[in-house]
Amino acid sequence: MQVAIDGPASAGKSTVAKLIAQKLNFIYIDTGAMYRACTIIAQKHGIDYSNEAEILKAVEAEGIEFQTVNNEQRVYVGKQDVSQEIRTPEISANVSQVSALAGIRAKMVDLQRQMAGKMDVVMDGRDIGTTVLPNAQVKIFLIASAYSRAKRRMLDFKERGIKNSQTIEEIEADITARDYKDSHRKISPLRKAASAIEIDTTNMTIAQVVDAILAEIKKSQKKL
Ligand code: DC
Repeated sequence: MQVAIDGPASAGKSTVAKLIAQKLNFIYIDTGAMYRACTIIAQKHGIDYSNEAEILKAVEAEGIEFQTVNNEQRVYVGKQDVSQEIRTPEISANVSQVSALAGIRAKMVDLQRQMAGKMDVVMDGRDIGTTVLPNAQVKIFLIASAYSRAKRRMLDFKERGIKNSQTIEEIEADITARDYKDSHRKISPLRKAASAIEIDTTNMTIAQVVDAILAEIKKSQKKL
């Protein structure tokens, strides 16, 4: 079974995807973390964020891996745990540029399909329902107002212990700018798949969103 959850930045995708994966005993794959890991690799090697060939070479040399440690998904670049570092505002500001590079996308999509081919997955991102897993049995498109997403991001920083000097309005502006870049890039832009179910989470609790998605999964399991 493949569950695809797409939507703009901070719409709650990873929070609900993780919970659903736990409940169903599926593997959770955070594809945004993979593009963030590519961005960290470029940064560490001092490679310009537009230099596709060099970033690709460095990504292949370092390797990106997911591991579950104490029930938490951690992201590794080489042997280094970068799970925290990939969430900093600097990486968030540059990841759209790196994730728009065709070669990087091809490599990541390949890895994502390999992972999804082996097990039941809940995968979240921007192009899962449209490109990565076009045959996913369940496709969800989560949206929420930019302001509510900025509020959530601020809370998230606090909970993860990430230092943040931005105001909520600045975070909202960053989110809006990233939405624009993600939905206007040439390759696999952020877009709702024709068969995806749209859920506006602005005024919903996490539990309500999880329940709504679980109900869709149950419906589709009955059809199998
Ligand atoms: O979900 P996130 O904020 O961690 O994603 C980081 C960036 O990666 C986002 O700006 C767009 C890009 N991304 C993508 O292009 N395709 C995906 N499947 C997931 C993320």
